[in-house]
Amino acid sequence: MMYVPAEFSEADYPRVHYQRQQFWDPTRLSLFTVAIVAIIVISIGIVTHFVVEGDKSFYYLASFKVTNIKYKENYGIKTSREFIERCYQIERMMSRIFQHSSGKDRFIKSHVIQLSPDENGVNILMVLMFQYPSTDSAERIRKKIKRILYQSLKTQQLPLTINKQSFTLTPIDSKKMRNFLNSRCGIRMTSSYVPLPAFFSTERIVQGSKTAMEGEWPWQASLQLIGVGHQCGASLISNTWLITAAHCFRRNKDPRQWIATFGTTITPPRVRRNVAKIIIHENYHRETNENDIALAQLATRVEFSNVVQKVCLPDSSIKLPPKTRVFVTGFGSIVDDGPTQNRLRQARVETISTGVCNRKDVYDGLITSGMLCAGFMEGKVDACKGDSGGPLVYDNHDIWYLVGIVSWGQSCARPKKPGVYTRVAQYRDWIASKTGI
Ligand code: ARG
Repeated sequence: MMYVPAEFSEADYPRVHYQRQQFWDPTRLSLFTVAIVAIIVISIGIVTHFVVEGDKSFYYLASFKVTNIKYKENYGIKTSREFIERCYQIERMMSRIFQHSSGKDRFIKSHVIQLSPDENGVNILMVLMFQYPSTDSAERIRKKIKRILYQSLKTQQLPLTINKQSFTLTPIDSKKMRNFLNSRCGIRMTSSYVPLPAFFSTERIVQGSKTAMEGEWPWQASLQLIGVGHQCGASLISNTWLITAAHCFRRNKDPRQWIATFGTTITPPRVRRNVAKIIIHENYHRETNENDIALAQLATRVEFSNVVQKVCLPDSSIKLPPKTRVFVTGFGSIVDDGPTQNRLRQARVETISTGVCNRKDVYDGLITSGMLCAGFMEGKVDACKGDSGGPLVYDNHDIWYLVGIVSWGQSCARPKKPGVYTRVAQYRDWIASKTGI
């Protein structure tokens, strides 16, 4: 009995060995792996938090004098060619200043708010948008921006002579900026910079997949018959006016039966309004689809926000050459006779000349001067049922114009049967006569 320990030590040997093996048994090994993976994931998370999500938008109001140009009467009209072209020149200059500087990628965009007369030139009021780490302070960034600008006044050859003493820069919040921009149309106000929709996979009829991002098409509305649902699209052109197609009201012209909603989904909508008034073009002909245009006035105004904005109306003289890139958006079906989509979709199409569109093998003379064809001769991408009344928009230097209203087409996305739109420019005076816009 006393010699038992000897036996123990012998028995212990393999046991110790066994325990060593057990240290890396499957359970421990997997726990260890999980821990390592967790550490990696958490570190990646922390890094992305600071690098990617840590960026915040900073807004500034800038005001300065430009001394090498003269004020023109039409600068007071925000939709005039003179105003728009001058704004574009100024905005382009700003992006040149900030993109060629250390602040690269920090600059998002800028928009002119107002041009006013000055005894020796023009006063410019504009907003500037930047993206900086959220930990940065508005004041520090303000100084940085000022330094970059002063630097470029010295070193760069700029088209406009900015008076340095007159330059002021004030940090503002996003709400203030929105208010400043309310006088302008067709500006997307997404909180972060939204790139132009991809050039691919926007074919929502055939391989439909691309849904719109919030705030990408902020003028899009859905017109719904109460108790029935979505009927048509529409575009916001002021706080109270929607523009749409006349044929949307073929079934029902009673404004009390209609509502309009805004946002990228039909349910839930971001904003919902009753309709107070419907104005259908006096010469709308259902047989020929001529003058397929109507206006709907909201019962109460909508406030503009990042996701609700008005689109610009084109000048009656606007001319888009064939194959101009335009976008159509809507909640319509993505196949012939398909159901309404709850999420807003977009498609990139190209304008087609009336000459081509009226060819015998296309629409054989059905296209009149108030219509505009857009799509592709090979088909594939098109608006469809339920998109009617909705916008066909054109992007001119970051300002979006309503050039067409979804009107008709033979089926959807068929070869040689492109979409036909109401040519909005043709009705510019009619719209003004009814709405004052
Ligand atoms: N009329 C249709 C509607 O009520 C839209 C027609 C557009 N068709 C086309 N192929 N683009 O929604």
